[in-house]
Amino acid sequence: MSALTPIEALEAEHRVIQKVVAGMVVLAEKIEAGEDVHVSLLESIVEFLRTFADRCHHGKEEALLFPALQSRGVPAHGCPLGGLTMEHQKGRDMVSELAQAIRTYAGNEPSARAALVKNLRDLATLYPNHIWKEEYLLFPLAVRVLTLEDQQLLAEKFEDVEHELGHEVHERFEKLASKLELEVSGVNSR
Ligand SMILES: [Fe+2]
Ligand SMILES: [Fe+2]
Repeated sequence: MSALTPIEALEAEHRVIQKVVAGMVVLAEKIEAGEDVHVSLLESIVEFLRTFADRCHHGKEEALLFPALQSRGVPAHGCPLGGLTMEHQKGRDMVSELAQAIRTYAGNEPSARAALVKNLRDLATLYPNHIWKEEYLLFPLAVRVLTLEDQQLLAEKFEDVEHELGHEVHERFEKLASKLELEVSGVNSR
């Protein structure tokens, strides 16, 4: 097994997502206050949410962790797996709306600011709630029902996902999360 258990690896990814979400909250405040924010920074957030948060992180959960739990008797529908899967889909739809709001903002539409602020805040509400449910409800359940062999197999499959995505994806997005943490304090021009 790698240094981290599969559950610890997912928790570590949550920490990266939370950094970006914290940046989104600050950016929403700045935009609401009339400050201009770099469109490229906003676009990099969409890329992060689509690639790191959805393809890499939610992908591991939906395609690997959830089926492993189902094989140990956790129901596919209802709470918690059905609800969490619905939230992943809701997140995908909301990220598409954010991408559209950024395009409108980039075109200097007067109404664009309010929509962009709303989209950033909606996502910044969804993710922490979702992460809380996973860390306090789903992951303790997973540790209880998955055998050590199940966890070993999951860790290997997570490695395959990393390999497919390219190991540099993690590094690149972790850098973006740190950059965002710094930039939110000094962004002032589009
Ligand atoms: Fe999730
Ligand atoms: Fe998660």
